[in-house]
Amino acid sequence: MARAMDNICENILKIDRLKKSFGKYSVLTDVSYSLRKGEIAAIIGPNGAGKSTFFNLITGYHHVDGGTVHFLGREITNWPRHRIARAGISRAFQVSNIYARLTTFENVRQAILAQEKRTLDIFTPAHRLAEKNTLELIDLTGLMPNRKHLAGILSQGDKKKLELALALAGKPELLLLDEPTAGMSSEETQETMELVKRLNREIGLSILFTEHDISVIFGYAHKLSVLYQGMVIAEGTPEEVRKNEEAQQCYLGEEV
Ligand SMILES: Nc1ncnc2c1ncn2[C@@H]1O[C@H](COP(=O)(O)OP(=O)(O)OP(=O)(O)O)[C@@H](O)[C@H]1O
Ligand SMILES: [Mg+2]
Repeated sequence: MARAMDNICENILKIDRLKKSFGKYSVLTDVSYSLRKGEIAAIIGPNGAGKSTFFNLITGYHHVDGGTVHFLGREITNWPRHRIARAGISRAFQVSNIYARLTTFENVRQAILAQEKRTLDIFTPAHRLAEKNTLELIDLTGLMPNRKHLAGILSQGDKKKLELALALAGKPELLLLDEPTAGMSSEETQETMELVKRLNREIGLSILFTEHDISVIFGYAHKLSVLYQGMVIAEGTPEEVRKNEEAQQCYLGEEV
């Protein structure tokens, strides 16, 4: 029993034999995957391999055709997306989720109020508490100097920080990031990934991300999994995957 509990606590996410087709086109044929609590892990693979689809299945944006998803020991397969989010899995949305005409502070406070509405009773000074929580989250994500700026004028890197702050408003335990550094300069990329690393270290957030930038993948992931033709064909530490022949042939080629 103790052993079983250990396993449940160790694996924050456990996926068994996941399948997904769009019409006759099978994208994920048989994906088994597990993520340990506190880990930063990357899913890599060529364009169209099914990485975003995999995230959409975990977060309830697509219907799972076969297999199971367990989160913190509970089966969440095909739960509605808001229930999955409330259970503790969050994903950073695209910039369009940000209100350009509100300030950074107002964007974050709005996300926090939306989350807290469900749990606050009538005696709680909701707005005062939300302001405190908003400032804490703004500080955590390095947005203090931008708190009074309109979100619409933030740089690409600061918008990503704001996206992360919004994703953290519901106090998730697992954060999914689909190509978090796409379209960024190398400076913004580094800043964003350093923030991801800090969130992992300071609040123990488990993180699963997809990425094409090899330096980001090898620089920040504790564990890599290569998705190819509907399956995970190689997995391990960056060093192990770098040496894996199948991973080299199918995806990494001569890049590493
Ligand atoms: N809603 C959908 N309807 C039909 N086909 C889809 C849908 N979503 C994805 N696909 C197809 O599934 C395959 C996998 O797409 P997905 O976006 O998951 O790949 P990816 O690994 O994220 O690629 P990229 O690296 O380019 O982001 C692609 O062939 C895509 O065209
Ligand atoms: Mg994708």
